[in-house]
Amino acid sequence: MIKHFCLIFCLLTSALLSAQSAIVPQPANVTYGNRYFDITASEIQSSSPQDLSFEINYLRLALKSKAQQSGTTDFRVDPLSIPIQFDLFNPDTLLPEGWYSLQTTDKQVRILATSKIGIFYGIQSLLQLSVWRTDKRLVVQEASINGDFPKFAWRGMHLDVSRHFFPVEFIKRYIDMLALHKMNVFHWHLTDDQGWRIEIKQFTKLTEIGGWRNSSMVGHYSEHRYDSLRYGGFYTQAEIYEVVQYASQRNITIVPEIEMPGHAMAALAAYPQFSCTGGPFTVPGKWGVFDDVFCPKEETFLFLEQVLDEVCRLFPGKFIHIGGDECPKTRWKTCKNCQKRIQDENLKDEHELQSYFIQRIEKYLNSKGRQIIGWDEILEGGLAPKAAVMSWRGTEGGIEAARLKHPVVMTPGTHCYFDHYQGNPRQETIAIGGFTPLEKVYQFDPIPADLSIEERKYILGAQANVWTEYIPNEEHVEYMALPRMAAMAEVLWSYPEKRDYADFFRRIEWLQNSYDEAGYNYSRSFLRPQITTFSKNGELWMLLDPPSPDKQLNYRILQADLSILLPAQEGKGEIPISIQQVPQERMTIEAWIAGDETKTVVGYMPLFISRATAKAVELKTQPSKHYPGSGSGTLTDGVSATLPRINSEWLGWSGDDVEMTVDLGVKTKISEVSIGQLVDHMNWIYEPSEWKISVSEDGLNYQTVATQLSPKSTLRKVHFKFIGKNARYIRIEAKNPGKIPDGKAGAGESSWMMFDEIYVK
Ligand code: ACM
Ligand code: ZN
Repeated sequence: MIKHFCLIFCLLTSALLSAQSAIVPQPANVTYGNRYFDITASEIQSSSPQDLSFEINYLRLALKSKAQQSGTTDFRVDPLSIPIQFDLFNPDTLLPEGWYSLQTTDKQVRILATSKIGIFYGIQSLLQLSVWRTDKRLVVQEASINGDFPKFAWRGMHLDVSRHFFPVEFIKRYIDMLALHKMNVFHWHLTDDQGWRIEIKQFTKLTEIGGWRNSSMVGHYSEHRYDSLRYGGFYTQAEIYEVVQYASQRNITIVPEIEMPGHAMAALAAYPQFSCTGGPFTVPGKWGVFDDVFCPKEETFLFLEQVLDEVCRLFPGKFIHIGGDECPKTRWKTCKNCQKRIQDENLKDEHELQSYFIQRIEKYLNSKGRQIIGWDEILEGGLAPKAAVMSWRGTEGGIEAARLKHPVVMTPGTHCYFDHYQGNPRQETIAIGGFTPLEKVYQFDPIPADLSIEERKYILGAQANVWTEYIPNEEHVEYMALPRMAAMAEVLWSYPEKRDYADFFRRIEWLQNSYDEAGYNYSRSFLRPQITTFSKNGELWMLLDPPSPDKQLNYRILQADLSILLPAQEGKGEIPISIQQVPQERMTIEAWIAGDETKTVVGYMPLFISRATAKAVELKTQPSKHYPGSGSGTLTDGVSATLPRINSEWLGWSGDDVEMTVDLGVKTKISEVSIGQLVDHMNWIYEPSEWKISVSEDGLNYQTVATQLSPKSTLRKVHFKFIGKNARYIRIEAKNPGKIPDGKAGAGESSWMMFDEIYVK
C-alpha cells in the first residue's frame, strides 16, 4: 500500500515539474526563471547577529519531512555548493512587519528580511517552491521576490474545540497549516455550552464536570437524534503553555475565547451558582443556544475575573475574546438579581445589562493591560469603550464599530464560515448548511465599500471560523479548512489588484504539492463543475460552470437505473435539456473537467421531471430578499433543494402567506400536486397552518381541489391527491402560522416558510 502511494505520488510530482511553480498567498511581486536548482543537501547559513537557530532548524526539518514524504531516506544536510542564506538587515526606511525578499539563483538561495518574522515568511515561500523529483532531488525553480509583505495585520483562523475536542498534537498541526499560509492569528474557541476545554486551577470542576457530556447530536440538528456516548476532553495548562510557545515560534498569536454571558452551559453545569436559577444543569449534547447564561451578580464577576487571571497568565497576546454572542435575555427578565442590577445601575433593559456585563469585564481586562474583542452582539446596548468587534452577522456590525472608531475583524457568515458547504451538498458529508465554495471565499473583501478612507483604518483584517458541530474528527477539520484557508490567506495577504481566480486556481493546483507532502486531507470539491438548471421559454436548460474559466468540460446524462441516456460530450455554459427527448421522471447530469477521463472529480445533479418542470410560476408575494432562490423559476427547475439547506435552492417568506400559480402552458389532465417544504423550528421555519390547492382552465376561475395533505406527505414534502381535472393553471396557497409561540426559538417573531420544487402529475 505504501509503495503504491509512493508510485502515484512520484508520478504526480514529476508531472508537476512541468508546471510553473507558484506561491499562495500571491507575493507582492514575483518573477520566475527557467532553471531549477538542486537544494537537496544544502547548507543553511545565517549572516545575522540575531539568533536564527529556530528558523534554520525549522527549514531543515521541513525539508527533511518533505524528503520522508516522498520516500527519500538518505536526506542529509551536508555542506554543498548551493547554500541557503538568511540575512537580516536594518532598513533606513520603515518596511512593513513581515517584509522579506527571496532570490533563488544558480549560486544560492537567499532570504533577506528585516525581522525573524520576515525570514519565516521567506521560508514558507521557499518551501512552496521546492519540489521533490523522482530522482530524489529537491529542486526549486529560479525565482525572485523583491519585497513581499502582508496587506492586513489580522490574518486569522478560528477553531471550535468545544463541540468537538481536538488534542494538542492536532492543534499544533492546525498551527502548521496556518503557518504554511502565512496566517498570524489563531482564535481558539475554548469554551461553549457543550464543553469547557481549558484547565483552570482555581475552579477544577470547570473541566472535571464541564469538560464532559453524556451524549451528542448525531445527524443534522433537524433530525433530533442523539447518541449516548460520554464525550469530552480538555487542555492542561502545561499543554496550553506548550501550544502558545509553538505558535509564537511560528509568528502566530493565539487569541483565546472564553464565552460570556451566553454559551455558558458547561461552566454552569460545574458551578450552577453563577446562573440566575441555581440549576442544576448538565453539559448539553444538543447544539444551539440555551436560555441559561451567566447571571451578572458580584460572585459571577469575581469567578470570571479569577478565570481570566489564569487565562491572561497563559496567553501573552493583547486580545482576549470574551464571546458576547447569542445571549438570550429570558432568564435575566425574571431574575431578581438581574432586575435589581438594572435598577441600581440605571439601565434601560436587558440589552443594556449585557453591555454592563461586557464593560465590567473590559475594565478588568484593561487593568491587566489587555484589550477585549467580542462578537458583534457586544454593540447592542452600547459598545464597551475600548472593545474590538468581530463582525459575524454580516459586515454591518463591523461597519458600525469602525464608524465608532473601534478596531474590527471581519468574519461574516457569507464568506468566512468554513463549517458551510464548499460544494454541492449532494456530494459532501453533512454540514450545518450554507454554501461557501472556494471562489466565494476568494472574492471576499474585508473592507466594505461604504467606509471612508479614515474608517477603513479600523479594519484590522479578517478570519475564517471552523465551528465543529458537524466536524467530528481531525481529518474533517482539514477537509473543511483546506483549501479555503488558502483563499482567505490570499484575501488577507495580497493586494486585490493581484486577485484573479483563474490564476489562483492554477496556484492551488500547485499548492496541492505542499498539502500532499504534509498529508493534509484537503477537499477537492473546488475541482468539480457546478451544475444548475433553469427554464428558458418553457424548456429546461442546464448551466455547466467550470471550476476555473479556462477549463473545458465534458458532461453526460444518466437515467434512473444509471444507464446512459446521453453519452459524454464536450460543452459548458448554457445547454438545453430537451424533456421530450428525455421523458424519464428521474435522471442525473454529470460533468467533469475535460481530460479527467477517469472522472476523479465529477459534479452531479439529480433531476426530477414532472408536468410542472420548466413552467412559469407567478408569486403573489415575493420572497424575502434574504432567500430569493434564483427567482420563482427555482420552484420548477427540476432540482429538489437539499437539507441541510443551501439558500440558493430555497425560497423563503417571513410572516407572509404564500400563493404560487403554475402555468402549464396547455390544458392537461392532472390529479396530483406536491411541493417541497422546509421545517426547522430552531431556525424559525414553520409548516403552514393551512393549505389550499385550486386549478383553473382560464386563469380566472379557480376551483378548489384539495385542502388536506395526502397520507403520503412528510415534513419534507407535502402531497395532494384529487380526482383528475383538466387544467392549465394550478394554484398553491400556504397560510403563514403567525407569530412563533413562547418557549420556541425566536418566540414572538414572525414565522418563516420555505419551499422548493413543485411537481404536478
Ligand atoms: C457565532 O457564530 N455564534 C459567533
Ligand atoms: Zn440573573
